[in-house]
Amino acid sequence: MKLIVDRITDEAPGIRSFRLVHPAGKPLPAYTPGAHVDITVPGGIVRQYSLCSDPADLSAYLIAVKLEPASRGGSRSLHADVKTGNTLEVGEPRNLFALEPSAPEHLLFGAGIGITPLLNMAYALNAQGARYTLHYFARSAADAAFSGLLAGQPFADNVRFHYAVQPDAIDGALDACLAAAASGGAAHVYTCGPGPFMDKVVARAAHGRAEDAIHLEHFQADPVSAAGENHAFEVKLASSGQLLAVPPGVTLVDVLARAGIQIDTSCREGICGTCIVPVLEGEPDHRDHCLSKKEKAANDQICACVSRSRTAQLVLDL
Ligand code: FES
Repeated sequence: MKLIVDRITDEAPGIRSFRLVHPAGKPLPAYTPGAHVDITVPGGIVRQYSLCSDPADLSAYLIAVKLEPASRGGSRSLHADVKTGNTLEVGEPRNLFALEPSAPEHLLFGAGIGITPLLNMAYALNAQGARYTLHYFARSAADAAFSGLLAGQPFADNVRFHYAVQPDAIDGALDACLAAAASGGAAHVYTCGPGPFMDKVVARAAHGRAEDAIHLEHFQADPVSAAGENHAFEVKLASSGQLLAVPPGVTLVDVLARAGIQIDTSCREGICGTCIVPVLEGEPDHRDHCLSKKEKAANDQICACVSRSRTAQLVLDL
């Protein structure tokens, strides 16, 4: 889709929101809470951004972008180059961070710019009358994007702000938030924010809670997890029986492309889920951040842009 930027707002220092509308004023495609879109920034780079507006309002999509000091071009270009009235190429919404409809209660933990998908979820949970609490960790109210919105109705009764919590006090603060859940370990936990913050949320939430009741959203690949040892392996294409060697240092998508099989990619960092390929045999070495633990354990799909193989051969349903 080509969408028009009709409003740009500074939400907090270094965080700017962009409201995107259809050029002819038509409604935008519907999506479920927690979804994100691919945005092609003016330099041509594609990045994923969560939708943070009300999912029931399809007159516009809102995204919020933090200017990252180490930006590889995505946030820098959006902040520096995009003006009101510009057109941006925006992909269809996709959701790898969906709310679990059967959960009796939802606990949302956001830090920094990680608030964006959680705000989108909060709109939907309010509309459903669901039981939820949004815990928002930030340095200060001034640094917390959308804090004014979240402090007002209809959110205020379900939002708790945690400002200036020191690193050594975060575990205790998280434990108190988790202990306050009326449904105890049955409450589903959702988190988005910097990697170390999400790691803490996952670790604390894992006490007395099933793994599939913890949901997280990554927006930047962790270079350590994407690295690992790059052993050679072989893939077999189920439809033709063709064998392809995947040497160390070469990705599965690139090997497939050289064999004439184009797999769509977007982030190429294991975040967006565009490149997922079904697996029939073998055990993938999952290095992505988009499949859930349960999906990874099933070993029946692989993110072909970053993941490799623990077995000598993978049979792909291609
Ligand atoms: S291209 Fe985004 S996960 Fe592979």
